[in-house]
Amino acid sequence: MLNGELHSYIEELLPGREPLFIEMETYAKENKVPIMELVGIEALLQLLRIQNSKKILEVGTAIGYSALRMAAALPHSSIVTIERDLERIKVAEEYMVRSKHGGQILLIKGDALEVEELVSVQAPYDAIFVDAAKGQYKKFFELYAKYLNDDGIIITDNVLFKGLVVQSDFESKRIRNLVKKIDGFNQWLMNNDDYHTVILPVGDGIAISKKKR
Ligand SMILES: C[S@@+](CC[C@H](N)C(=O)[O-])C[C@H]1O[C@@H](n2cnc3c(N)ncnc32)[C@H](O)[C@@H]1O
Repeated sequence: MLNGELHSYIEELLPGREPLFIEMETYAKENKVPIMELVGIEALLQLLRIQNSKKILEVGTAIGYSALRMAAALPHSSIVTIERDLERIKVAEEYMVRSKHGGQILLIKGDALEVEELVSVQAPYDAIFVDAAKGQYKKFFELYAKYLNDDGIIITDNVLFKGLVVQSDFESKRIRNLVKKIDGFNQWLMNNDDYHTVILPVGDGIAISKKKR
């Protein structure tokens, strides 16, 4: 989103991270696991710190990188995170056992659209972070927004999808359909009567939504 030089400049300014986080970043790169970008996750963590989130729901754990980063940044928080991919669940559990922040995290295994009952037991949430299948963002949002407390925020990642939301030429029909869905979600969200939303061109584009009072 930013030009390459500025992006590298900001990344170089970031303070050091725990060795386990660096290891997870390397694992994700080598195994092509899409975890949040460095600048994007810093923006997410800062929003959660400002809000002083105590209970966070994450849709899309992957290997547990963002969940553990949230736990580390907010030591008094607890995080409920959902993942359906068995291989990633296994890796996430291993990292959670090794990390001193793992005790703050409850990993729910299954499809996010099918585990509402388990998620609702832990409600209400101060923040919901949506970072799973992009084509289903509206469904995740509609399903879980009711478990947000009145001062809650919902952060949705990848809403600019590598800049593809403004392209008209696509390498495949699948990508074109996905872009259409993300654009549809963005339009719906920005015009939603119940939420104030801003889209920031940070990382892969994040939408920050706050309940209207
Ligand atoms: C972008 S990755 C999550 C990255 C993670 N939040 C991070 O930054 O470390 C998205 C993950 O969501 C999972 N996922 C996608 N759709 C899902 C669904 N309907 N239910 C549960 N998990 C889902 C995928 O298997 C994938 O591991």
